[in-house]
Amino acid sequence: MAGSDASTAAKASVDKLVAAARSAREHAVADFSHFKVGAALETDTGEIITGCNIENASYGLTICAERVAIFKALSEGKRAFTRIAVVADTPAPTPPCGACRQIIWEFCGDIPVILANLHEVTATLPMKDLLPLPFDKGLLGL
Ligand code: THU
Repeated sequence: MAGSDASTAAKASVDKLVAAARSAREHAVADFSHFKVGAALETDTGEIITGCNIENASYGLTICAERVAIFKALSEGKRAFTRIAVVADTPAPTPPCGACRQIIWEFCGDIPVILANLHEVTATLPMKDLLPLPFDKGLLGL
């Protein structure tokens, strides 16, 4: 049946994105917090760009997995994004931090954010629910 084929394909593509985020998480440089995070960003052409958190002894220089993925993608000339998956080893959803919400909104807009752990997807939320009343370029007249 066409409907179930479509939903099977949709689930497979979510699984692929989450699997990429889980793999990226393995590369986390998290010597201070030991809290490893992976992210996988999907482009409008179906490409997947990954990132992991990278910590620093000067703690404030730490960069989250989501921002690494987005900045990698932007630096490769990618500009249109459809979904992002974020993986952490927590039973409850680990949502993006405030700084990452601002960056995701700026460069990806209202995309679905898929939150998962090592075993399952724990939540899927639209960015507009994670960052209500955003400050963005519209307010700068752009
Ligand atoms: N972290 C992320 O990479 N993404 C999130 O969504 C939440 C927090 C990282 C930053 C830091 O390396 C560690 O998790 C603990 O805060």
